Amino acid sequence: MDTYLIRGGTRLSGEVKISGAKNAALPIIVGSLLADGETVLDNVPDLKDIHTIIQVIRCLGAECDFDTAANRLTIKVNSIKNAEVPYELVKTMRASIYVMGPLLARIGQADVSLPGGCAIGERPVDIHLTGFEALGTTISLEHGYIKARAGRLNGMQFKMRGISVGATANIMMAAVLARGKTVLENCAREPDVVDLGNFLVKMGAKISGLGSDLIEIEGVKRLEPVSYSIIPDRIEAGTYLIAGAATKGEITVKSAIPEHIVACMDALKDMGFVVDSGADRVSVKTSHKLSGTLVKTLPYPGFPTDLQAPMMALSATIPGINVIVETIFENRFTHVAELRRMGADITVEGNVVIVKGVEKLSSAPIMMSDLRAGAALVIAGLIAEGETEIRRIYHCDRGYERLENKLSVLGADIRRVKGGGL
Ligand code: EPZ
Repeated sequence: MDTYLIRGGTRLSGEVKISGAKNAALPIIVGSLLADGETVLDNVPDLKDIHTIIQVIRCLGAECDFDTAANRLTIKVNSIKNAEVPYELVKTMRASIYVMGPLLARIGQADVSLPGGCAIGERPVDIHLTGFEALGTTISLEHGYIKARAGRLNGMQFKMRGISVGATANIMMAAVLARGKTVLENCAREPDVVDLGNFLVKMGAKISGLGSDLIEIEGVKRLEPVSYSIIPDRIEAGTYLIAGAATKGEITVKSAIPEHIVACMDALKDMGFVVDSGADRVSVKTSHKLSGTLVKTLPYPGFPTDLQAPMMALSATIPGINVIVETIFENRFTHVAELRRMGADITVEGNVVIVKGVEKLSSAPIMMSDLRAGAALVIAGLIAEGETEIRRIYHCDRGYERLENKLSVLGADIRRVKGGGL
């Protein structure tokens, strides 16, 4: 398995172009199943998770051609030939559950392996399933598989028990071809959900209220395939801004949407960093007045849970006390032990973490446990004294396109060692 070797201490500087958003591309790629014909998607990031979701829709009958150099994905759908997504695929990526919406909408049947828990939490899918039941689906669980059956779905009024990105997207994809009107309450407002909604509207769906907590969908008989370009990845943009700040450097992320990363920009400003933004770019540079702050993860437009770990790595060497509160996932502190191995002073009390800024971190062999924890360890390696070896970097390959290349362009001393570790 590949590893990273990072020699810390370089102040990052320069510009980095942000790729398309993983968490928008995944449901949009699945959403293409809602219409027969050819869908062309641009700005699709070349990530492991994207290749997995392509495998998933291929096993349902879609033909896919992914031009990774051009970040263009062409999908041909000529009827859905299969309704089952095997355990082998779902266990590698929970987002495979997104196929349930389009399958139920198109053929009234979906057999999808029930996703298990993951490193960051139990992550049930009950809201997805109760939403489908409210649309008229019968759901059973057999041998680890969700068996969903329905005639034509019927519009309904449904208040989600909790704010869920995945459930909002999945139920929306089912409701676009249902009979009558669906009113969804307590919806997720994430830009990824809005991007999916805009894609569906371009296909001919009737949806209003995207970006608010109340979405209304008027079902239509059929949708048409379209060409569409995926929004930039706000989590990738935030990660680079945080990395730039952590190394006390000066960087600019470009081809980004500043409105999507306001919470991250505000947190950096609260710490004393100088943050500026333009039409499609955000820059950060250090100042002499840095101090700790409070960060609480919340659904959008609050501070994203996916930037909690990178923010903790940054906090490790910021003078004073930093408090981080994780409210979305119950087990998203797996990076704490690794950061402590590098000398960070971190105390965990339930879902609250107190980070006392230390003078410096020192290099150590460390290991990624999930995608965003992995990004935190890369940032820690960039600021640590000495050379840090990071294992299980396949976690980062799931969600950061060409990470080591982009960091090298910003001046980082990072290299991937093929087959370097266990
Ligand atoms: C999406 O996951 C993202 N994944 C996650 O990013 C992100 O952390 C999360 O939203 C929150 O922003 C993708 O878009 C592929 P949720 P999702 O449903 O949809 C509970 C990354 O690093 N819940 O909004 O799975 C759930 O357990 C990934 O790119 C239920 O209880 O998240 C969690 O505590 C990691 N029942 C909370 O709601 C349900 O049916 C929010 O989860 C659904 C969710």
